[in-house]
Amino acid sequence: MKILVTGGTGYIGSHTVVELQQKGYEVVVVDNLSNSYESVVDNIEKITGIRPGFEMMDLRDGKATLNFLKGHSDLSGIIHFAALKAVGESVEKPLDYYQNNILSLINILSGMKESSISNFVFSSSCTVYGQPDTLPVTEQAPIKKAWSPYGHTKQISEEIIENVCKSIPIQSILLRYFNPIGAHDSALIGELPIGVPNNLVPFLTQTAIGKREYLNIYGKDYDTPDGTAIRDYIHVVDLARAHVVSIDRLINKKNKRNPEIFNLGTGKGYSVLEIISSFERTTGIKLSYKFTDKRSGDIEKVWADTSFANAELGWKAEKSLDEMILSAWNWEKALEDIRNK
Ligand code: UD1
Repeated sequence: MKILVTGGTGYIGSHTVVELQQKGYEVVVVDNLSNSYESVVDNIEKITGIRPGFEMMDLRDGKATLNFLKGHSDLSGIIHFAALKAVGESVEKPLDYYQNNILSLINILSGMKESSISNFVFSSSCTVYGQPDTLPVTEQAPIKKAWSPYGHTKQISEEIIENVCKSIPIQSILLRYFNPIGAHDSALIGELPIGVPNNLVPFLTQTAIGKREYLNIYGKDYDTPDGTAIRDYIHVVDLARAHVVSIDRLINKKNKRNPEIFNLGTGKGYSVLEIISSFERTTGIKLSYKFTDKRSGDIEKVWADTSFANAELGWKAEKSLDEMILSAWNWEKALEDIRNK
């Protein structure tokens, strides 16, 4: 069975391609390489021994997307990752975000309709909840006004899929990710932040390796046990496995609603200081950090209620925080070797 992974050379996409291939799926990747490299395809092949199909394409191009999908009407499903994802950048360039994230989605759904491809897994985010009123957050929590254009594109995308599924024979699962971190055990694929990373873990590992002087901790007086903000960090390979389970579920017509929505997290929240202790404990390296002002738009605390995903998907995140952090560190060291070559 053949699956199309859009954004398949990106961070979560590449790990999902590996997991799909290891479960016996044939995979075709489409990516415009705006935030990734074609060499990721070589590294996927090094891990699995199988080279996924690759086509460089921009999904904002409706004609190209339609032609591509018409030529691949034998696809059993599509997992759609391709999107822009930097919150700060989305505030500076909202139109880029609406064009990329919304137009691509519409082009894919239109192409699916024309070529009768029926199974669709969508990459959403816990950002749709904003700061939830109750924790842990369940899939029923209200969707609050988005804090950024990026978050808004995820909310709009979910609504578009919901409406389209009512009238076109497309079956869909929306996956709301919490904070994906870490990298594949092989250290051949991982997150490749271009420029200065926005996210905590890549910034932390770049500081430890000497690329950055110190880590800024944004805020120390949050209403949390140690005063720093809390997130639900999940290993990217655990996240990738949930995509395989989801596409399997759609192909085998096991979904109970359309769309189905699942939170993907571990159900445990860790503070920024706990992430730093995990890093220092697992690597033996002392990290330089300073406290600074809160980052605008940051929420105080969020972690997932994963009971619905665990029960319905028969999936559970397995990797511990220390395993996540160690794999992120091994990946940073592998990147340093590449930089020094
Ligand atoms: C961010 C996005 C979220 C997106 C996710 C993708 C915001 C407000 N949210 O989540 O919508 O889906 O990335 O991965 O940007 N921190 C520091 N120092 C740093 C970086 C981060 O203290 O240098 C803190 C942050 O204040 C936060 C935690 O670390 O409390 C995690 O930050 P980050 O990795 O950027 O993720 P989110 O902000 O949760």
